[in-house]
Amino acid sequence: MEGIGANLSTGIPARIFYSVMLLAPSGIRMRMWRGLYQRMARSQKDSNFRFMNYGFTDGDELDLSPEDEGDRLFIQLYNMNIRDVEIEGKEVLEVGSGRGGGASWISRKYNPKSLLAVDYSDEAIRLSQGWFSDQDNLEFRVGNAQRLTLPDQSFDIVYNVESSHCYADITAFISEVFRVLRPGGKFCWTDMRDKKTMEKMHESFVHSGFTIDSWTDVTENVVDALDIIDEGRREMIRQSAPPSLRKSFETFGGVPGTPVYEALKARRIQYFRYLLCKPE
Ligand SMILES: C[S@@+](CC[C@H](N)C(=O)[O-])C[C@H]1O[C@@H](n2cnc3c(N)ncnc32)[C@H](O)[C@@H]1O
Repeated sequence: MEGIGANLSTGIPARIFYSVMLLAPSGIRMRMWRGLYQRMARSQKDSNFRFMNYGFTDGDELDLSPEDEGDRLFIQLYNMNIRDVEIEGKEVLEVGSGRGGGASWISRKYNPKSLLAVDYSDEAIRLSQGWFSDQDNLEFRVGNAQRLTLPDQSFDIVYNVESSHCYADITAFISEVFRVLRPGGKFCWTDMRDKKTMEKMHESFVHSGFTIDSWTDVTENVVDALDIIDEGRREMIRQSAPPSLRKSFETFGGVPGTPVYEALKARRIQYFRYLLCKPE
């Protein structure tokens, strides 16, 4: 995994995946991530499973409708990422929307003029298009974070949740976001990296042309959420993954006791949120 330097000692497929990821050229790494998410979309078509992030809790309980309650911690990660920007009436882009739960919630809760959500996995996009077709201001399309086929200066806000660790070329991604944002537009980013790569990430933001409005370490909040999610996530993996892949899915899912979780807990992997602004 790019910038997630955990020793994946649990789950043979995860270990092989990790070893190849360390050695493979960036194009192959990206195809491997795509393969993983395509497989997840194919093996788990349950519409109750609308999020693929690690969650967030800070004691501030969001007001949620009963239908969203089961996804509270995943929604709170999305909300933490975008809560300082005004979304109502704006043209918004999500990059790496996964199974679409976050984009669906934001478009219902904050009423943007339009929300376009793109993801590299056409299988995940197909699921999202089927589940959320009744939301008029929301559209899902297949798209690559590093080569967004979207016009210059066409969005007011771009946000990105726990997706960029899969990208082969972070600089290309950041410059694509810069290109599609209007002057004054905001970029809300949240994800994890090992300590060193997070420092490089900071440097990339510093040299991107954006100004950095704020950056926040949310590692502890994410670990707290993983502790709460633990049993539910194990059960979901028991139901959807073949036995030979369960340990690996638990590792990627950040289940307590697996290496990514332990690295987050020991802060060898850190989870950050950046709020960036494209100068006027
Ligand atoms: C951990 S999931 C998070 C999904 C969603 N943001 C959420 O929180 O539920 C990472 C997502 O990033 C997507 N992704 C990976 N590489 C991508 C790329 N180059 N362009 C767009 N999306 C990508 C994957 O297909 C996957 O859906």
